Amino acid sequence: MENSKNILVVGSGGREHAIIKSLAKSPKVNKIFCAPGNAGIAQDAQCVPLQVEDIEGLVNFAQRNHIDLTVIGPEAALVAGLSDAMKNYGLKVFGPTKSAARIESSKEFAKLLMEKYGIPTASYKTFEDFDKALEYIKKGKFPTVIKYDGLAAGKGVVVAKNLEEAEVALADMLKNKKFGNDKVIIEEFLQGPEFSFMCMVNGEKVYPLELAQDHKRAYDGDQGPNTGGMGAYSPVPFISPEMKERALEEIMKPTAKALLEENVPFCGLLYGGLILTDEGPKVIEFNARFGDPETEVVLPRLESDIYDFFTAVIDGKDFIPQWSHDAVIGVVLASKGYPGSYKKGAEIKGLENVKGEIFHMGTSGQKGDFRVNGGRVLMVTAHGDDLPEANLNVRKEIEKIKCEDLFHRNDIGKAIL
Ligand code: AMP
Ligand code: GLY
Repeated sequence: MENSKNILVVGSGGREHAIIKSLAKSPKVNKIFCAPGNAGIAQDAQCVPLQVEDIEGLVNFAQRNHIDLTVIGPEAALVAGLSDAMKNYGLKVFGPTKSAARIESSKEFAKLLMEKYGIPTASYKTFEDFDKALEYIKKGKFPTVIKYDGLAAGKGVVVAKNLEEAEVALADMLKNKKFGNDKVIIEEFLQGPEFSFMCMVNGEKVYPLELAQDHKRAYDGDQGPNTGGMGAYSPVPFISPEMKERALEEIMKPTAKALLEENVPFCGLLYGGLILTDEGPKVIEFNARFGDPETEVVLPRLESDIYDFFTAVIDGKDFIPQWSHDAVIGVVLASKGYPGSYKKGAEIKGLENVKGEIFHMGTSGQKGDFRVNGGRVLMVTAHGDDLPEANLNVRKEIEKIKCEDLFHRNDIGKAIL
């Protein structure tokens, strides 16, 4: 069975690049395809020009190329029903069905589920009407949290410090329909450090990964708008093993069980965006897929064969992953202007000099001639015996990359250093 398995990874970002680099280490893996991939991914997998929502194209491709396992990266593919279609054709797939992915695609579904099963989270109310939402906010406290109910690539959340900010956010979402035609959720503001708890899940079986922390705000000091994530590190020293166990028992396992009881069993990666409050860990959000950029700092620490891990989960078998004690820090290089509008096409120089691992999030071009092709462009990671050492290493490596149109945060992991 050595070297015989063909894999299809669906997606085109740093997360998919990290999954591919992990899979490439498995002696069982023969060929890795990525749809559609990007210029950097093309160095590690064969990219195929199929979009993540092209369900028919992807199913046909998997059948024709004898794909033994498809790993779905982005939520858009899940929401389009890719996992359902793959399963219908008897293909092995890692990623939940469309209905199970509602834990991410509908914040209201997630909230109702948590309420029904007593999973700790912020209290909330749902609104479709601008005036009613504004009236409710006027009666409440600040800061308050306003969330668009559909998918918004991590940008549909506004923590409003005052009424003016709240009004702008509500107008964007309910009047100007900036993200689409969905409702908004207005939520109690929770206080505490956030951390990302990713677990592989199949039905009631939950396989926890190592923890990471993401940095969602665009600029240093957690200033600026929310983004998809500007950097991450793993492990997370402020969460003790006991607290992780508590989050597993009080949040991740009950959520997997709740989905099963609601007849939407989950098979894939359940991402808990958690916050450690005075009352213990609570849920900020769930995602139905690997976190980006958390995956780029967690998977490099996985010492077990990830192909074995994926198949054990899909087959519902026990699997205890082994992790390295290394610390990993990753910093995102994003286009100036992101998460707003930005320019594409600038040349990126110096990548060949970087010693740490680089995950491509949004690049185009050929080997040696990489160009900016997205909001988040590159994730540069470095290892160390501990986080301070990883931090020194990643700083050195970033300096080697030259591109006038990119910016990055200088304080990833700084709060704990
Ligand atoms: P989300 O997309 O739901 O993860 O929200 C993005 C970011 O907004 C989170 O990482 C938090 O920093 C912040 N946030 C969301 N909900 C809350 C909340 N209820 N209390 C405090 N901060 C929140
Ligand atoms: N880093 C947060 C996310 O993947 O949604």
